Amino acid sequence: MNGLVKYSTDNGIAIVTIDNPPVNALSPGVPEGIVECIKRAEADSSILAIVLIGGGRTFIAGADIREFGKITSGEKTRDIGLAPALLEIENCSKAVVCAIHGTALGGGLETAMACHYRVAVPQAKVGQPEVKLGIIPGAAGTQRLPRLAGIPKALEMCTVGDPINAPDALACGIVDRIVEDGLLAGAIAFAREHTAPLKTRERNQKLTADAAVFAAARAEVRKKQRGLMAPLAAIDAIEASLSMGFEEACAKEAEIFKQCLFSDQSKALIHAFFGERAVNKIPGIAKNTPVREIAKAAIAGAGTMGGGIAMAYVNAGIPVILKETTQDALDRGMATIRKNYAASVERGRFTRQVADQRLAMITPTLSYDGFGDADIAVEAVFEGMDLKKKVFTELDHVTSPGAILASNTSTLDIDQIASVTSQPQRVIGTHFFSPANVMKLVEVVRGKATSPEVIATAMALARKLGKVGVLVGNCHGFVGNRMVAPYLREAQFLVEEGASPREVDAALYGFGMAMGPIAMHDLAGLDVGWRIRQELAREGKLHTDLRQPLVEDRLCVMGRYGQKTGAGWYRYEAGSRAPIPDPEVDEIIASSASTAGIARRAVGAEEIIERTTYALANEGARILEEGFALRAVDIDIIYIFGYGFPAHRGGPMWHASAAGLRKVYDRVCEFERLHGEHWRPAPLLRELAESGKTFEDWDRARGAE
Ligand code: 3HC
Ligand code: NAI
Repeated sequence: MNGLVKYSTDNGIAIVTIDNPPVNALSPGVPEGIVECIKRAEADSSILAIVLIGGGRTFIAGADIREFGKITSGEKTRDIGLAPALLEIENCSKAVVCAIHGTALGGGLETAMACHYRVAVPQAKVGQPEVKLGIIPGAAGTQRLPRLAGIPKALEMCTVGDPINAPDALACGIVDRIVEDGLLAGAIAFAREHTAPLKTRERNQKLTADAAVFAAARAEVRKKQRGLMAPLAAIDAIEASLSMGFEEACAKEAEIFKQCLFSDQSKALIHAFFGERAVNKIPGIAKNTPVREIAKAAIAGAGTMGGGIAMAYVNAGIPVILKETTQDALDRGMATIRKNYAASVERGRFTRQVADQRLAMITPTLSYDGFGDADIAVEAVFEGMDLKKKVFTELDHVTSPGAILASNTSTLDIDQIASVTSQPQRVIGTHFFSPANVMKLVEVVRGKATSPEVIATAMALARKLGKVGVLVGNCHGFVGNRMVAPYLREAQFLVEEGASPREVDAALYGFGMAMGPIAMHDLAGLDVGWRIRQELAREGKLHTDLRQPLVEDRLCVMGRYGQKTGAGWYRYEAGSRAPIPDPEVDEIIASSASTAGIARRAVGAEEIIERTTYALANEGARILEEGFALRAVDIDIIYIFGYGFPAHRGGPMWHASAAGLRKVYDRVCEFERLHGEHWRPAPLLRELAESGKTFEDWDRARGAE
């Protein structure tokens, strides 16, 4: 009718097709178009019932998320206008059958629930993912879903936000029939069977529930979704269905929805949503750049990373050859993989049979046999330039000329590594994070010779592995680890100045980090940095004029490398990862500070958060101006997916912009005065602060987001 929604008929059944690619979002015009079609069908006496279906790859994926920014920025004053349209559907005197394929999410499921019946293909999924955007369902989802699926299911779906599949939706009453062959034909057939006028409306159904159900849901959210407002708000809205009639409860839902939409958390989460997609848009690499098929991978090194990477590949259906230098190392690597799969089976993540199939896709070997027909060879051997060069020289010979050669190095120069090969254009970094089978981030490191096709393939491969690939430049530590250095440095300085390790960790955990920096350091191992510092000192490259952390090297000298040695900044009971404060470490901290003449003082949580997160943003700004990250949002995505930065704070660059770059810049200048040159402000930070801009403005000026 209006171009976004189409109307046709099939022998007495009206077919209303939403046609708003790519995901049939409820952009302006879509709800109006649906209502127009429903009214037309209602007015046509030859029409017995109506089928509502999505064109293209999916049913409605929800409200148009881009509209939210326009509402919160004041560019648009009206709300998304979906709820009244849904009432029109529900009030239709003829049966409306919703036909679901792909995903019916958010406003999409709300639209489906306003219809009188729902049929779905077996692969379809339905869900209320709004909490992932920091909001709650805003078109009666918190009222219709409990009436259809029951309060416990509605609480789960609206607080966690994960979709459920069609068979589950059938079991809990959201879907009325699964249609195996031909969705439209199945929906039409269903509609012909259900043309009788509807006597009752779902919305008039009364609900009851025990108060304990809501208390348990709130407790669960506080534990598992630490710091998030929207899941608690969704519970409030669902609870309103008990004490209020449908209309009043919907008004309550609308009020809560609006509060959430205007919250800082929602803005940050929406930034993260679009950021996760923006990282795939790479200036200079056309969308239609050919992408090579990766049907087989070969990995050198079956240690911590090689083993995890092998699992990541086979989990995505790509068979792997896994090479080691000794039988012992190979056996150890395979045993770890087996143990990890057994743990997944025990946790019920998949069956023994699936685990066995995946294990069978990994071929362990001590030679390069089998590397010749691999589409990608991944190097995950010890970190050392000489060894990397040796392995790449070998890979250059044993692989086919079309194969990609990828290094998992965390610090080394990709160009130097590529220089020993005959085709540096096929060399790239794919920097996984530990544990590689779990962590979602992959930094895709472009060397100066890496070809666009190899970059596009590595990015597509990351997606195929279920990861988020972010393209970064070739600088020491790339983006994530380069920024983590000042972050950890400040955490340690704060400890020397008077905060306990536990206070530093508690402040950042409270901020929302998955783990505090000191505990994270214990997990990663203190010895790696210690060895690098020793190496730099030997080469005379250590900046001894700058303040250096004092405690860590002393801990390393004592053999306290972190969790792996049972002690680091904290101590650990055998078999436990729980950090226990250690008075011995407190003494080392106090004596180190006293020797260095550092006056110990009370350090508050606010200072801890500012010093650590602004250190991230300042280094991030430097990385941006040096061109090692494409956009500020890329850095945010790296931190959210690789370093446990809370998505509801949008990442370190967004967080700094939200705090106000003027304020951040002033604090950085003050820290420079107090703590020295480490804090020299990045010129880009100064420039943005002085011109009243944000990192997002900077991104926008470069055509991102
Ligand atoms: N609004 C606007 N744009 C959307 C969108 C939405 N709801 N959903 C997806 N898009 C865009 C993406 O940004 C992307 O754009 P791009 O090509 O320019 O980067 C494009 O559609 C394709 O999306 P994906 O790359 O994510 O495609 P996939 O096939 O991998 O995934 C999907 C499809 C599962 C639907 C996924 O896009 C998704 O989860 N979308 C968001 C769903 C959602 O959160 N819905 C709730 C919205 S809030 C709401 O409905 C409020 C209501 O209660 C009133
Ligand atoms: P690791 O020490 O656990 O494993 C390295 C493995 O490589 C060893 O098993 C060793 O026997 C094997 N190896 C050495 N030479 C080989 C060769 N010529 N052919 C095949 N195998 C060989 O090391 P880890 O931690 O897995 O690191 C591997 C790489 O990944 C390094 O470059 C490291 O910097 C990087 N990395 C490590 C992370 C971590 O958290 N451990 C995170 C991200 C990157």
